[in-house]
Amino acid sequence: MINATPARPAQITAAADAIRQGQLVAFGTETVYGLGGDATNPDAVARIYAAKGRPAFNPLISHIETTSRAFDFGLPTLIGQQLADAFWPGPMTLILNRIMAPNHGPAVCDLATAGLDSIALRVPAKAQARQFLAECGCPVAAPSANRSGRISPTRATHVMEELGGARELAMILDMGPAEDGVESTVIDARGEVPLVLRPGSITPNMIEMATGFAPQAPGQGIISPGQMESHYAPSKPVALNITTPQASDVMIGFGPINGDVNLSPAADLVEAAANLYHMMRQADMMAGKRIAIAPVPEDGLGIAINDRLRRAAADRPLDHTSEHSNEYPSG
Ligand code: TXA
Ligand code: MG
Repeated sequence: MINATPARPAQITAAADAIRQGQLVAFGTETVYGLGGDATNPDAVARIYAAKGRPAFNPLISHIETTSRAFDFGLPTLIGQQLADAFWPGPMTLILNRIMAPNHGPAVCDLATAGLDSIALRVPAKAQARQFLAECGCPVAAPSANRSGRISPTRATHVMEELGGARELAMILDMGPAEDGVESTVIDARGEVPLVLRPGSITPNMIEMATGFAPQAPGQGIISPGQMESHYAPSKPVALNITTPQASDVMIGFGPINGDVNLSPAADLVEAAANLYHMMRQADMMAGKRIAIAPVPEDGLGIAINDRLRRAAADRPLDHTSEHSNEYPSG
């Protein structure tokens, strides 16, 4: 069982050394914790899939410390540049056309992009994460640091619960609780108009402010490989928009609708997002047959929260190890 290490400078340096040697390191970002490996090294990327228990090779996000370095690996477009200027470093992932022969160093390997000619790029904001990425000196492929089909980790202790036993993992860097708590907004910026593939804390309004275009939703099943309804699955069944729970429910409240835990007594969506996965984990461990969740308003960050809640509540097959049945868009 591997323990989390506080992300002090010496530990960050040791973790970056491990990455360059092809090992895996879990690290914090402002969204969720990632399970990182050198994106240019197919052996390292293969170990990421193995540690997560992913039967399928789904495309991963490459994390990079600066926007200018990110554009070494993906071809900027007008909206891509505008979005990067507005929201990087931050909780946004851009899908761009992949650059196969970067000016500096090796390209991101095919296994990390699942053989697509597009690439997912992100410059996270968390200072310790950027320090880590800068010291790695390579793009770091990192899916959320959970076992396939399970709730994304927002604290180092969650990573220990999920992957502490994985022999592929060299270190868990504890960077404190993730401030945002929902995965990055994924935007396909290859065309003229932005397409939101996964909602997050960069909202449609913010995207429109930056680009002048109201973002579109992707065509059904076309752009995001492996997109499936059920994801972020607790082991108990989940019921949404509950105002009056049953006696056997574990209730997750929001605002004035209280519960065993409350996402945000003040009905603050930012606080609710940051608490979401932690409270789903807590509720899953409490005695009760079902997790009942109070209504959360469907606007701003509430769009992303409701998206994750619907996926947690979606019918899922009995086989929890099947990535294809549990991941959203293949994440
Ligand atoms: O906040 C986050 O994005 C976290 C942190 C660690 O950065 N990462 C994360 O990774 O959520 P993951 O693997 O769980 O989700 C990656 C998402 C998936 O929905 C995947 O389908 C999408 O990015 N994606 C990756 N490459 C893509 C591509 N070339 N085209 C379309 N979607 C892509
Ligand atoms: Mg994920």
